[in-house]
Amino acid sequence: MSARYGFDGQVAVITGGAAGFGLAVATRLAEAGASLVLVDITADALHAAAEKLGALAVVADVSQEPEVDKYVAAAVEAHGRIDLFFNNAGIEGRMAPMTELSVADFDRVMAVNARGVFMGLRAVLKVMKPQGSGVIVNTASMAAIKGAATFSPYIASKHAVLGLTKSAALEGAPYGIRVNCVAPGHIDTRMGRDLTKQINPDDPEGVFRAVSETVPLYKRYGTATEVANLVVWLLSSESEYVSGSLHLIDGAINAG
Ligand SMILES: NC(=O)c1ccc[n+]([C@@H]2O[C@H](COP(=O)([O-])OP(=O)(O)OC[C@H]3O[C@@H](n4cnc5c(N)ncnc54)[C@H](O)[C@@H]3O)[C@@H](O)[C@H]2O)c1
Repeated sequence: MSARYGFDGQVAVITGGAAGFGLAVATRLAEAGASLVLVDITADALHAAAEKLGALAVVADVSQEPEVDKYVAAAVEAHGRIDLFFNNAGIEGRMAPMTELSVADFDRVMAVNARGVFMGLRAVLKVMKPQGSGVIVNTASMAAIKGAATFSPYIASKHAVLGLTKSAALEGAPYGIRVNCVAPGHIDTRMGRDLTKQINPDDPEGVFRAVSETVPLYKRYGTATEVANLVVWLLSSESEYVSGSLHLIDGAINAG
């Protein structure tokens, strides 16, 4: 697909950049002329993606404070600034009722999805504030606006992403920095597929088909590219008055 928006000369940092939404956004931004810094915990996939897209690769665990500081420092060292930040890495964790979850199950999901997003925002805002510009998109989920039995750590972590988005938008606004979050529904990535295995290990394809049927629009999962189209619009100047909001992309599943 040809680039709809120009990002020539802009520096983009993407966490979870080796797969799924992160890789789809990286691909769009590379086509549109951005310089990319891809961050991921999965080294092999990260290096393959970075080589293909001509990006700088930083292997880092977003749940660890020194590693967050490391990826931000690497971006600044390489490019001198950060214009765009897709704060996206996340995990689904274990699906089970609260009474069957351990505190460690809860802590792991919160560490990546909530603390990791907070630490990324904190470190990147320290770079963007003196620049007087920057655009950030955090990956929340439809789990940011509803509950779900057997999915409490993930639900809590994505509600946290929405709260962090709103606070960061208010803190960034005086500096011309915009902060939004996307809230995807059921999307066909590694995570989307692994969730079907957790729901029914004996028939994940059956779960996939049943979930597809619940989606009002097209009766199908969304794609990483469809999510990337929304993220790239939010990162672009086309959305220059949009900040502090949650953007559902869910095939109307939350419209009812
Ligand atoms: N797929 C869906 O249906 C769906 C729906 C709503 C929201 N989301 C959210 O979208 C984001 C991306 O998910 P995806 O579907 O692309 O999943 P994915 O598993 O395909 O990609 C996630 C990437 O993040 C990386 N990652 C995981 N933990 C990390 C860590 N601690 N540090 C650095 N990198 C790490 C993984 O290695 C992987 O490359 C997540 O925040 C997820 O919660 C996904």
